[in-house]
Amino acid sequence: MSVQKVKTAVIGCGMISSIYIRNLSRMFSVIDLAAVCDVRREAAEARAKEFGIPRAMTVEEAAADPEIELAVNLTPAFAHYEVIKKMLLAGKHVYTEKMFTTDLDQSRELVALAAEKGLFLGSAPDTVLGASVQTARHLIDSGIIGEVTSVQASINRNQPLNSEVFRFLRGPGGTLPYDVGIYYVGALLALLGSATHITAFGNPAPVHEPQMAYLNEGAEPWQIPGMNVQAAAIRFACGAVGTLHFDGNTIGQSQHAFTIYGTRGILKVGDPDKYGDPVTLILPESDPVQMPMTHGFDGKNYLSEPTYFDHYGHRGIGVAELAWALRKGRPHARLSGEYGLHCQEILQGMDIAAETGKVYELQSRFEMKGLRPGYYSGMFNGSMRGDAEASLME
Ligand SMILES: NC(=O)c1ccc[n+]([C@@H]2O[C@H](COP(=O)([O-])OP(=O)(O)OC[C@H]3O[C@@H](n4cnc5c(N)ncnc54)[C@H](O)[C@@H]3O)[C@@H](O)[C@H]2O)c1
Repeated sequence: MSVQKVKTAVIGCGMISSIYIRNLSRMFSVIDLAAVCDVRREAAEARAKEFGIPRAMTVEEAAADPEIELAVNLTPAFAHYEVIKKMLLAGKHVYTEKMFTTDLDQSRELVALAAEKGLFLGSAPDTVLGASVQTARHLIDSGIIGEVTSVQASINRNQPLNSEVFRFLRGPGGTLPYDVGIYYVGALLALLGSATHITAFGNPAPVHEPQMAYLNEGAEPWQIPGMNVQAAAIRFACGAVGTLHFDGNTIGQSQHAFTIYGTRGILKVGDPDKYGDPVTLILPESDPVQMPMTHGFDGKNYLSEPTYFDHYGHRGIGVAELAWALRKGRPHARLSGEYGLHCQEILQGMDIAAETGKVYELQSRFEMKGLRPGYYSGMFNGSMRGDAEASLME
């Protein structure tokens, strides 16, 4: 089978770009990673050299290049609106990292612009297309746990301490709900569909006195803006209800929980921030059983020698799924702009509810098709690349 590859440009050559560039250039037969771009040309040139990408260019050059069909936006959230809009207006399909934008109205405008121009606009998180969440989705769709009645999702970190190392966490979008909670929100949406209402109580991050002298000696104290602790209640359109608990003001030893309760059983999914954490099924008259994965993209590196960015897993599946939708002439059925917008509205709805003491009613809706099971990332004990990409085609 031969397919005309989708000529793609990565925009933003910072920290997360390594895993994207490696995966997009080597893991998917539908992608031709033709260029890398950055406002800092030297950053783009360095990544091009490191990964053997043919061209380093500016965003304007990529927008003007008639060969580039798809832009992958890996800039910081504050730049997303401008970059996405520029590329859509230039007639390019776009896939963006989270958060979609920093403003709901801007995200709505971009979704409408893409629809008007007949372009695909996709959004992270794509961990929801990984083996864990897709296996859980397959099990739920099979009916083995009956009707889903409720969900519980919980994550903790010491976000102020983390912000000593990762400086971008000191700015907007640096709170735990936005930085990590979004993976939990995305996974719940991939399993249960749209939510209709959310309400929450929240607390801000403390003013942080730098503790890591070797990194931040002499720095003034800072405070991550926004609610860093959120205890929320959510209702889904399917009827299930749930609790979300994000605490960024505690210690970093993760006590994450992600549990789906049903009328006939319970599913526990590992950390939805990862691609291949275990999925455990609990039925009335047996001990908990760790289920075999029914899908590929388990986050392991099947491509090369281990690298320092391997823990970022299979980032890029969402880009490949969008590219296959283009080449197969089918709808963009998974990580659509509507999905990114819905993730964002849930997080912002939580903030609004915590500030006003009211229940927030969600305006946006989305749909996401599951991936077909039975395809895997590795073969022959992982010594060869598997056929998981085929699950992205239809
Ligand atoms: N770092 C992570 O662990 C991580 C994980 C998942 C998702 N993300 C998301 O990925 C995105 C990028 O994160 P990062 O950690 O790589 O950030 P980063 O700050 O390390 O890199 C961002 C890059 O974008 C470039 N840039 C900024 N504005 C630009 C513009 N207008 N046009 C072109 N280039 C521009 C910067 O020069 C920089 O090289 C963010 O949306 C973030 O939320 C990051």
